[in-house]
Amino acid sequence: MIELYDPSVYERGVPYRDLAWLREHSPVHWHRDPQTPGFWAVTRHADVVHVSRHPELFSSYEGLAMSGEYPEPDKELQRLLMLNQDPPEHSKRRSLVNKGFTPRMIGKLEQHIREVCDDLIDRCSGEGDFVTQVAAPLPLQVICELLGAPVEDRDLLFDLSNRLIGWDDPEFQTTYEDGQAAGTELMAYGNALAADRVEDPRDDLITRMITPDADGAVLSPDDVGMFTILLAVAGNETTRNAASLGMKAFFDHPEQWRRLVANPSLLDTAVEEIVRWATPVMQFRRTAMTDTTIGGQPVSRGDKIVVYYSAANRDPSVFARPDVFDIGRDPNPHLGFGGGGPHFCLGAHLARMELRVLFETIARRLPDIAPAGEVRRLRSNFINGIKEMRVSFGPPSS
Ligand code: HEM
Repeated sequence: MIELYDPSVYERGVPYRDLAWLREHSPVHWHRDPQTPGFWAVTRHADVVHVSRHPELFSSYEGLAMSGEYPEPDKELQRLLMLNQDPPEHSKRRSLVNKGFTPRMIGKLEQHIREVCDDLIDRCSGEGDFVTQVAAPLPLQVICELLGAPVEDRDLLFDLSNRLIGWDDPEFQTTYEDGQAAGTELMAYGNALAADRVEDPRDDLITRMITPDADGAVLSPDDVGMFTILLAVAGNETTRNAASLGMKAFFDHPEQWRRLVANPSLLDTAVEEIVRWATPVMQFRRTAMTDTTIGGQPVSRGDKIVVYYSAANRDPSVFARPDVFDIGRDPNPHLGFGGGGPHFCLGAHLARMELRVLFETIARRLPDIAPAGEVRRLRSNFINGIKEMRVSFGPPSS
């Protein structure tokens, strides 16, 4: 059995065989971890849903990273992130930011996202890197747009979020402190945007967050700073890797690519299958608030619980032929955006739309795109990621 906490394991690929073994033989499995007392690895779909939907039993407040604790005082700061909050505090925060992410607000962005995708594809010909030329710039540009940040800051946000999330990958940073420094810079960036919008309100997300709602509730500048960190990471690494891993899935299953090129009406189900297949966020941690059970397994108050979306998304009791990439799969109750509890991905509508428009544009304009060499994977036990994927774009059609 491999060590699930070890980030180097994932450089070779997600250990689906080991996760499948656990799901079948020990679905709530006590796993050692050299940095902590250990954790329960939860791998069945039904158990991941149960943990996600019961924040009163399984708290986010003690942190979400699998290994280790944030040192004090970082912990206090981390708790300003709504991902690290429990209801009722979380519910208040979430309702303040929800207004920027409704299907109506996201629908308003679609035409612009279409133009961004066309512009990215215009620049692709011959051979290149799919990650830096296509998958990374799209969500970054969308986040700049959402925040009302200048698009020239795309590279800065790319660098800061890589350093913040890439703590396990020496290519991005060398120390925990460097990641914290990147977080502080992002927070200052968000605070500055908030201060600017107080002076100069605009039709953007930050202005909406600092404008009191009907009850007079409003986000503080620190809240806006933390939310900027969350968006820069949550909305960026995830969508980028869904796009790259989705493209790779099509390279590995060329008959599915031909199917999509011939039937664009499959785009909606294709996007769901890409998110299930890729599961860019592999796991999140919770902490048991009381002695309880998960799938019949007793767990004790204070135990760490790690829910494996990657394992749940291949659970054969829910998905027929779970190890087959099928862009027509329907229904597809995957947990790629979370298990349906209060933290269910805020950006799910946006991510779905970005991926739909992106793959629609590639299928239409680069139908002959093909792999052209090495795929370098991220070293992380948290994000299923690709750092570089060489491709032959072929000439873009107009
Ligand atoms: C939360 C996945 C795109 C913003 C989450 C969670 C997952 C996830 C697994 C945690 C759910 C839970 O704990 O129950 C993904 C994937 C994406 C994606 C796979 C792309 C394919 C986005 C985008 C944004 C975003 C585009 C925003 C621009 C957030 C936020 C949270 C979150 C703010 C925290 C919500 C809360 O704590 O209430 N996402 N996400 N995500 N996501 Fe996403």
